[in-house]
Amino acid sequence: MSRLCLILFGAPGSGKGTQAKLLKQSLGLPHISTGDMLRERVASRDALGLEVEGLLQAGSLVPDEIVWQMVCERVRCLRCPGGFVLDGFPRTLAQADSLRKLMEQEKLKLDAVVNFVLPAEEIVARLSGRRTCGRCKAIFHLILQPSRLQNICDHCGGGLYQREDDHPESIAVRLDAYEKSTAPLIQFYRNLGLLVAIVATGSPREVFERTVTELEARSAAFMTG
Ligand code: AP5
Ligand code: MG
Repeated sequence: MSRLCLILFGAPGSGKGTQAKLLKQSLGLPHISTGDMLRERVASRDALGLEVEGLLQAGSLVPDEIVWQMVCERVRCLRCPGGFVLDGFPRTLAQADSLRKLMEQEKLKLDAVVNFVLPAEEIVARLSGRRTCGRCKAIFHLILQPSRLQNICDHCGGGLYQREDDHPESIAVRLDAYEKSTAPLIQFYRNLGLLVAIVATGSPREVFERTVTELEARSAAFMTG
């Protein structure tokens, strides 16, 4: 696979961030996560950060214009010669349409939209136990993917924290927003022939290998016509 332009799709907690990090490590693709970008803005305490803080904590979607402006600030990453991994974007039909127009302008082509599919009980279990490194953003889980030392990142020694939106009330709002606003994109990308469904159960490494195998099979099928 020479150039790979991917969207990682799926419900909150389905493993998009975990898989994006593995793809970044193995293929060197830039990882563009709108959730990470929004959390950085909140941490910076600038005007935009203060505006979106409450929405993030509640688990509600941030307005399309705000998210789109942030994505446009990263347009150079979309132009990377090796491709890119978009994580958590697009999340509405309007965002998908803006992305389509931008990619047309930039003469870029999406290769696949990888949809990680996971049963609802497992989603809630993964989100409730997630811990994130405040410094390098590595992702752990108290039971499923524990760090070697409690609350300390294996990679950089930073402190681990629980995201504000990983509490039961916010999880319910996020799952609801996913069903109402984001899940319709599955049909949108299926119609474009870009959807690749991946069963997201099993270890992160197993899910990663399944994903790469599917993408390779897909690219081989295109090459042979
Ligand atoms: P965002 O940060 O994108 O959150 P999300 O979509 O809710 O997804 P998560 O990050 O919660 O889960 P994930 O799929 O990345 O799973 P992870 O790999 O961490 O967005 C946050 C908020 O920002 C949104 O709610 C919204 O307010 C706003 N926002 C962002 N983008 C937006 C947009 N485009 N438009 C509008 N608003 C936007 O894994 C979860 C846990 O499971 C971890 O603990 C991990 O260790 C564990 N795990 C992962 N894989 C496995 C595995 N295979 N086996 C065992 N454990 C696993
Ligand atoms: Mg994530």
